[in-house]
Amino acid sequence: MQNKILVIDFGGQYNQLVARRVRECNVYSEIYSYRIGVEKIREMDPKGIILTGGPNSCYLEGAPSLGKELFELGVPVLGLCYGAQMMQNDLGGCVGIAPVREYGKTNTYFDTNSPLFKGIPEESIVWMSHTDYISEMAPGFKTVAHTNDCPVAACENQEKGLYAIQFHPEVLHTVYGKEILSNFVLGICGCEPDWRMDSFVEDSIAAIKEKVGDGKVLLALSGGVDSSVAAGLLARAIGNQLTCVFVDHGLMRKNEGDEVEAVFGPAGNFDLNFIRVNAQDRYYAKLAGVTEPERKRKIIGEEFIRIFEEESKKIGAVDFLAQGTIYPDVVESGMGGESAVIKSHHNVGGLPDFVDFKEIIEPLRDLFKDEVRKAGLELGLPHELVFRQPFPGPGLGIRIIGEVTGDKVKIVQDADYIYREEIAKAVKEGIMEEPNQYFAALTNMRSVGVMGDYRTYDYAIALRAVKTIDFMTAEAADVPASVLQKVMSRIINEVNGVNRVLYDITSKPPGTIEME
Ligand code: XMP
Repeated sequence: MQNKILVIDFGGQYNQLVARRVRECNVYSEIYSYRIGVEKIREMDPKGIILTGGPNSCYLEGAPSLGKELFELGVPVLGLCYGAQMMQNDLGGCVGIAPVREYGKTNTYFDTNSPLFKGIPEESIVWMSHTDYISEMAPGFKTVAHTNDCPVAACENQEKGLYAIQFHPEVLHTVYGKEILSNFVLGICGCEPDWRMDSFVEDSIAAIKEKVGDGKVLLALSGGVDSSVAAGLLARAIGNQLTCVFVDHGLMRKNEGDEVEAVFGPAGNFDLNFIRVNAQDRYYAKLAGVTEPERKRKIIGEEFIRIFEEESKKIGAVDFLAQGTIYPDVVESGMGGESAVIKSHHNVGGLPDFVDFKEIIEPLRDLFKDEVRKAGLELGLPHELVFRQPFPGPGLGIRIIGEVTGDKVKIVQDADYIYREEIAKAVKEGIMEEPNQYFAALTNMRSVGVMGDYRTYDYAIALRAVKTIDFMTAEAADVPASVLQKVMSRIINEVNGVNRVLYDITSKPPGTIEME
């Protein structure tokens, strides 16, 4: 039996969180759609199974279910919300519309003799979100938690290792949620807490070696966290069987191209074939006179593909194309589970159409962003690279409003560098919390100012800093006025061509994080 937990996805909002909480118990978990069926689950031979919540009512026709068989595998199963109701329904219990719908923080009473609730207080707050409820438990089950409105907040059949919970232990509002999940994973399933980044790194290196054999691998390296960590991992596994093509489009942040080269180029710590294509002139020529944001994005994306194509033709046929896809990309593109498609990922879109390769390798496919960062540190990548903020594929091209020119790129690079330096300092001094993303953009506005005794007519820089969890919505961060003033004065003094600094307070929506 493998030391892993399968999270079976029924389309709930918190499914990624479930997998994540399991990993926080140092146990490896994988998420699969319920559509994979019981046979596949049996083949994977997990130590435990968690069924997630979902939007359906299990008693309606066509509601997702894996049938009774799932509960006869001899593997402990924990059903959460929809998963709990489905378990009860499939095993002969009754589920219906609750007389009182519960939503939000709810006081709950626990039977702490249950192995699921071992070591937690008899009463605490949980996060509820349900309209249906278990009105009658399946034969062989007994109640082990209830609320004032919900008679079966949890029930169990210890002998069979089956547990059903109406609330969401994966959500932080459930005060003892972590303990409950840990009781299931470590206690009831008996998993060893042996999942660590070093074991991930070691296992992946071994798996990549085995898969690639003596084949050749090609990776498009953007300098972002994900593709850099993928490069580090592949380089450790297969060394110079790997070729990384790094296209410097001249729209990177200040010094970024050189930093990437320092790590992965000949002077760096990895023995791989590194090709840096300095394409700034080509990009600036293509972008000359173009002001429409979508058009700029298209040009930048297409040019990247052209360059990558030229380079890969020089290399010849490769066996594998590697990509730095990470778990949220898989989910957001609707490939991983049941969640709705949020956006399709466009960083490497289109590559497989023309590159002559046999297979794709995605070594980070199962990792969350913070796990990717841990893996990066484990591989010895520099801290600045590993903790780099998200940076859009089109780079500064969409942080310069209107036409892009080499001079404007220099202005925004220098201003952005100062801004990031000052924020980092303020964060270090404890004056402010680090925003999730912050950068300078160059507006298309010129205005009148005075410097010394002279009139100036120069550009305005806009500073942006946002707080966000998922980057789908965001709020402007609270950057202290003293920090903003320092940044303003440094930018005006140190960056030619700027005489005004603005702070963008727009949230998303209605704004987006980037300005174009
Ligand atoms: P917006 O501007 O849509 O940005 O609010 C949300 C997040 O996505 C990043 N972003 C991109 N990332 N390619 C990327 O890889 C892109 O074309 C792109 N456009 C925006 C942006 O930096 C923010 O983190």
